[in-house]
Amino acid sequence: MHFLSVNDLSRDQMNEIFDIADEISMGKTTSSLKDNSTLALLFEKPSTRTRVSFEVAMARLGGQSIYIDSKTSQMSRGEPIADTARVMSLYVDFVAARMYHHEDLLEFANNSTVPVINALTDLEHPTQSLADLYTIANAKRRIRGVRIAFVGDVAQNTCNSLMIAAVKLGAEMALVAPKNFPPNPQYLTRAREYGVVDIFDTMEEGLAKADIIYTDTFVSMGNEGDAEQRKKMFAKYQVNGNVLKYADKDALVMHPLPAFRGQEITADVLEGSKSIVWEQSKNKLLIEQAILMYLSQKSM
Ligand code: CP
Ligand code: NVA
Repeated sequence: MHFLSVNDLSRDQMNEIFDIADEISMGKTTSSLKDNSTLALLFEKPSTRTRVSFEVAMARLGGQSIYIDSKTSQMSRGEPIADTARVMSLYVDFVAARMYHHEDLLEFANNSTVPVINALTDLEHPTQSLADLYTIANAKRRIRGVRIAFVGDVAQNTCNSLMIAAVKLGAEMALVAPKNFPPNPQYLTRAREYGVVDIFDTMEEGLAKADIIYTDTFVSMGNEGDAEQRKKMFAKYQVNGNVLKYADKDALVMHPLPAFRGQEITADVLEGSKSIVWEQSKNKLLIEQAILMYLSQKSM
């Protein structure tokens, strides 16, 4: 079984992964991976959290990991993705891949005989969404009925994955962005099959009744060519001290990081009492351990 998209997991499967994470965090689980399991991290884009947490997750489960910067692999000289996947499957037990193009990840997975995990593509960041929702469940004691306002660039990986996974688990989404910057239509349609996704173009309306205010960079990896235009277009959608008043009084602030202080979020909000961003990052490690254990059980 691969984990390439939030669409790969049902509601029950997501809850099963959260249960494994709970067991790990309470020290209740004795399970680990088979001896000497190896995870290859094949990355085309930079990473701090996902790379380090996956490496530590493997070590904690008794396995090991190998980081491969795609620029130093034969992929950079034109070796087909399919051949790379076939060969890597001969050596390792899992691959976590961070790729520019989601289709390249699908091509890799179609040619891999070991589980492949999406460590971020242009379209999705599904491991992040599981860590985000696990964090929300712990902070709010529930996911069902929680209203999450995603602010800024609503047409990228983090938002695509979160909106589907969140509404599948019974949360509501509000997407807050300029009128001329709609969310990805396929992801929006899919999310609306499961529940409520509202769209707003003002912070006042979009943050109303929000329990979670979620933002991400205005310039995702791969969008650097439009950086100045994006920063201008999203400037009104900054999460700062003035807009928190529109949301529920107990609203919490989330960000997958890296954060660009002074752009999508101000330093005082990021470091303030409503911010749970460090907890969110911490939970990536736990959720990745749970995903690895879950995939190894399903692939036996
Ligand atoms: N949140 C996240 O995926 O961070 P990295 O890009 O540092 O892995
Ligand atoms: N949307 C961001 C997420 C980084 C973790 C990006 O793709 O750069």
